Amino acid sequence: MASVKAKRTRTFKIARTSDVLDPENPALHEASGLAKRQLVAVDDGIGPAQLTRLEEYFRWRSVAAEIIVLSGGEQIKQWKAVEQLIDAFGTFGLIRRSEPVVIIGGGAVMDLGSFACSIYRRGVPHIKVPTTVLGYVDASLGIKSAVNLGGSKNRLGSFVEPAAVLLDPTFFRTLSQRDLVSGLGEVLKLAVACSQPLFEDLRTYGPEGVATKFQGPARILLDRAAEIMVERLGVDLYEDDLERVLDLGHTFSTVIESADPSRYGHGESVTIDIVLTLMISAGRGMISFEEAATILKFAMSLGLPVSPPVEVDGMLWRSVEERSQHRDGQQRFPLIESVGEIRFVNDLMPEEVEIALRRLRAIENSEEVH
Ligand SMILES: NC(=O)c1ccc[n+]([C@@H]2O[C@H](COP(=O)([O-])OP(=O)(O)OC[C@H]3O[C@@H](n4cnc5c(N)ncnc54)[C@H](O)[C@@H]3O)[C@@H](O)[C@H]2O)c1
Repeated sequence: MASVKAKRTRTFKIARTSDVLDPENPALHEASGLAKRQLVAVDDGIGPAQLTRLEEYFRWRSVAAEIIVLSGGEQIKQWKAVEQLIDAFGTFGLIRRSEPVVIIGGGAVMDLGSFACSIYRRGVPHIKVPTTVLGYVDASLGIKSAVNLGGSKNRLGSFVEPAAVLLDPTFFRTLSQRDLVSGLGEVLKLAVACSQPLFEDLRTYGPEGVATKFQGPARILLDRAAEIMVERLGVDLYEDDLERVLDLGHTFSTVIESADPSRYGHGESVTIDIVLTLMISAGRGMISFEEAATILKFAMSLGLPVSPPVEVDGMLWRSVEERSQHRDGQQRFPLIESVGEIRFVNDLMPEEVEIALRRLRAIENSEEVH
C-alpha cells in the first residue's frame, strides 16, 4: 500500500488593538470578513456594560448578531456546555467556512468555545478575543482547546488554530485583583522557562500593571510576554517535542487546580508548581537556594500563592505519574537551572518532592512572619 502524504501550513493573525468594542474600531468586524451575521460566545465576566457595548457594536455595524452569554470560569469547561454550544451553532444555521464564531472571554471560555468549534462539522473557524491577563499572554495565542472530564483537567481537547486573535487590554478594567495577579503566574512561567529579560520586565512592570489594570505603559509587559509566546509557538505549534520548556509549571498544577478551581486558578496553580520545582531544583544543587528564594519572594510580593494546600500533598506524586503518561511514558520533568534555563530529568523521586515541599512551607512561613 502507498502512504498518504499531506501538508497544511497554519497561519493566523494576532493583532493588538484598543477598545475592540468601540463601533468605530473595525478590527473585530474585519476579522470575521465583514460578515452580515455573527455568532458570538461571550464570558459573562466582562460585565453588563461591556455586554451592552458588544450588542451595540454589531447593531451599529448592521450585523445580525446572536450573542450567547456563558458563565465564565473553570466550571464551564464541561461536555454539557459543549453540547449546548453546538446546539446553538445548529439553531443559528452556521455556515461552515465563512462565518467564524467570535469567542470573547477568559481562558476557560476560549478553551470551551474553540473545542466546540473544532468538532462541529469537523471544524468551523473561530476568532479569539481574550478578556483576562492569562488569556492575553497564553490561552488565546496557541492552538489548544479543551474541556475537563470526570475531574481530570483538559481530558478532552484538540489542536485547532483560530482564524484570528485580537488582543485588547481594555477588558481588564473589570478584572478582579486576583485574576489580574493570577495571569501574571503565566508570565512568571514564561520568564523562568525561557526569558531572563522578561523576568526583569515582570519585576519592573508587574506591580504597576496590577495597580493600573494594565491600562497604561505596563501593557508592554503583556505584549512582550505575548511576543515571546508567539515565537515559541512558531517553533513547535503541535508540541511534537515532548521536552517543552513551556511545560514548566504544568506537572503539579493540574492536581492543585482540579482539587478546587475556585480556590486556586490556573495561573495561581502554575505559580505553586514553579516554586515547588524551584525547591526541587535547589535540592539537587542546580540553582542556589538564594536565587530560588528570591523568585519565591517576588511571586509572594505580587500576591501569588506559592505553596499547595495540604489536602493535595498526597496527590502530588500521582500527578508526576499522570503527566508522564501525557509525556509519552517518561517524566520529562522540567527543572530550573536559572531564570531562563531549564533541564529535563527522568529520575525525579517522591522523596525529593516531599523534602522540597517541607522547605517551601518553611520559607513561606518565615516570610509571612517577617
Ligand atoms: N488553551 C491554552 O493554551 C491554555 C493556556 C493556559 C490556560 N488555559 C486555560 O485557561 C483557563 C484559565 O483562564 P483564566 O485565567 O483566564 O481564567 P477563567 O477563564 O477561569 O476566568 C476567571 C474569571 O474571570 C472572569 N472574567 C473573564 N473576563 C473578565 C473580565 N474582563 N472582567 C472580569 N471578570 C472576567 C471569568 O468569568 C471567570 O469568573 C484554565 O482552564 C486553563 O486550563 C488554556
